[in-house]
Amino acid sequence: MKEYFETNKALWDQKVDIHKDSEMYDLQRFLKGKNMLNSIELEGLGEVKGKSILHLQCHFGQDSLCWARMGAKVTGVDMSPKSLALAKDLNEQLGLDVTFVESNVLELKDHLEGQFDIVFTSYGTYTWLPDLSQWASVINHFLKPGGIFYIADFHPVIYMYDHPKHQLAFNYFNSGKPYEEINEGTYTDFKAPIKHKEYFWCHGLSEVMEPLLSQGLSLLEFKEFPYSPYNCFEDMEEVEKGKFVYNPKLSIPHVFSLKMKKEL
Ligand SMILES: C[S@@+](CC[C@H](N)C(=O)[O-])C[C@H]1O[C@@H](n2cnc3c(N)ncnc32)[C@H](O)[C@@H]1O
Repeated sequence: MKEYFETNKALWDQKVDIHKDSEMYDLQRFLKGKNMLNSIELEGLGEVKGKSILHLQCHFGQDSLCWARMGAKVTGVDMSPKSLALAKDLNEQLGLDVTFVESNVLELKDHLEGQFDIVFTSYGTYTWLPDLSQWASVINHFLKPGGIFYIADFHPVIYMYDHPKHQLAFNYFNSGKPYEEINEGTYTDFKAPIKHKEYFWCHGLSEVMEPLLSQGLSLLEFKEFPYSPYNCFEDMEEVEKGKFVYNPKLSIPHVFSLKMKKEL
């Protein structure tokens, strides 16, 4: 696995400079106070003031910092040092007190102590992980009894498409092996001058939910959304403000959310 994770770390390090200047991340307006979180997760989690949040795979921390601006005590985790360097810089510029921890999410028990009211992760997370049993065990470990796990992420169905070709190309279920791809550009700019190798894994919805249920978490809410709040796959159309779809003629799931509770 080491080779896969090292390759992906280099991939994410390479993306940071492009992402920080992108329209999608809109850093200037974020710094002036714009809340970058989407209605999906804002409504899903509700009031976070005074709560402790562990944000897994936080990239350069924009969403972590937004939860902190809403009054939460936030710890963000990512394995990309360049992402975290920018996250820490933004935290300082904004005078916030988010803690950022560099770690592979699957090895977090070796790098962090404590338990949290909420474990949160969103948009582009589980596909980078080979083993969701280990992921679920990390989530359960860091949740306080009575705590909430919340994920809003791209639906495994939308990951089945080769977007530029408009064809079904990838598995729904995990085959046990990663896909290896060499891609140009990134989701904020498909023509960005970067080229990189990446490894990713497919996981169906049952593969996401089952390990969490096996840890003893109970399901509070499961939702599917026929749009993405991000214009992040090639050739999407904005059907309503902030709602992007892959093919307006087909109602297909783009995003799902899951809210689970660790029993007392
Ligand atoms: C698409 S971003 C997360 C999305 C986040 N909502 C955002 O856009 O700001 C994916 C993040 O996962 C991180 N990542 C990928 N694999 C990881 C792993 N095994 N452990 C920790 N972080 C990982 C990457 O470094 C990257 O920052």
